Amino acid sequence: MIKTKIIKISQDAPEPSKIRSAAVIIKKGGLVAFPTETVYGLGADALNPEAVKKIFNAKARPADNPLIIHIAEKKQVYEIAEKVPKAAEKLMNKFWPGPLTIILKKTGKVPSIITGGLGKVAIRMPKSKIALALINKSGKKIAAPSANSFGRPSPTSAQHVILDLKGKIDMIIDGGNTEIGLESTVIDMSTATPVLMRPGKVTLEQLEEQLGRVIVHPAILGKKKKVRIAESPGLKYKHYAPRAELVLVYGSKSRIKEKMQQIADDYRNKGKKVGIISCSKSHCYAADCVKFAGNTQESFAKCLFSLFREFDKTDVDVIIVSGTEEKSLGLAVMNRLRKASTRLVKV
Ligand code: TXA
Ligand code: MG
Repeated sequence: MIKTKIIKISQDAPEPSKIRSAAVIIKKGGLVAFPTETVYGLGADALNPEAVKKIFNAKARPADNPLIIHIAEKKQVYEIAEKVPKAAEKLMNKFWPGPLTIILKKTGKVPSIITGGLGKVAIRMPKSKIALALINKSGKKIAAPSANSFGRPSPTSAQHVILDLKGKIDMIIDGGNTEIGLESTVIDMSTATPVLMRPGKVTLEQLEEQLGRVIVHPAILGKKKKVRIAESPGLKYKHYAPRAELVLVYGSKSRIKEKMQQIADDYRNKGKKVGIISCSKSHCYAADCVKFAGNTQESFAKCLFSLFREFDKTDVDVIIVSGTEEKSLGLAVMNRLRKASTRLVKV
């Protein structure tokens, strides 16, 4: 156990003295959890392999799952990426700072512990003022996965990070709830045709508008396919899961409510406690615990991981959740739901 300092920092106007104390830890090779606009990240000096190793230990993360390097200025890309295609620069100019991670061929500067031995590196310039200030003040590029224990939902508040990592890292910056709630979009720009590896707030439609053709990795759509390690290490792991079983009901909008209730009744008849995540205030369910995720894809994205963690505090055995249309931000929401679910029901 190590002593974890927890400090509150303003998201709108980060206090310089507090940022400085966090930056000192990064410089010395320690671990700081900090908010970004997507989810909280667990940061360390990206070019210090010993510091990066601590990230994997604190999270119990498999070594073959590579990390994103966070930068504060676009020009830093050229220090860690070997080839930066024009199309990647177009994305950087359009979406950075923001929730987009770009994969490029790496330079020799990037330690192999960051990339899981791959020849490519994932890079993102976040929008959060706290994240940018921390990167700037430390004078380092910061490697940061989501600040959860491996397999748990990504943290969208400091409280979530405290639950998973207190006693294992040096500092947790509390900057309130994150704005987006789902991890960044990840696109591989090192291939002849760009490949969407993880959907997020920067949508497929927005990327296609900039790039023309984008290949959607089959694993995103839940298609069964043996994922080769070199292709994408992260895709093979189950993620984001609440402790209870998760049943995802999706398809025809008009039939979802009825089907969800029927499934809830079946479980309850077998003596199971049932929770429901509903996206429509007008739908009433008979269940042991019903939580509302808002009726837009934005609100669904923002509260999804937090709801998973809220259900962890209840005694429900099963959570039934309604799907959303796989368009725009809905592609990201459905991707996370598929990955977390133990049973899928199409209506
Ligand atoms: O929003 C986010 O992206 C957050 C915040 C903290 O920035 N970070 C985050 O990191 O979600 P993480 O490590 O939880 O997810 C990174 C994903 C993983 O699926 C990983 O496999 C993939 O990006 N990735 C990282 N480097 C890669 C590489 N070189 N090649 C292929 N995939 C890579
Ligand atoms: Mg993660």
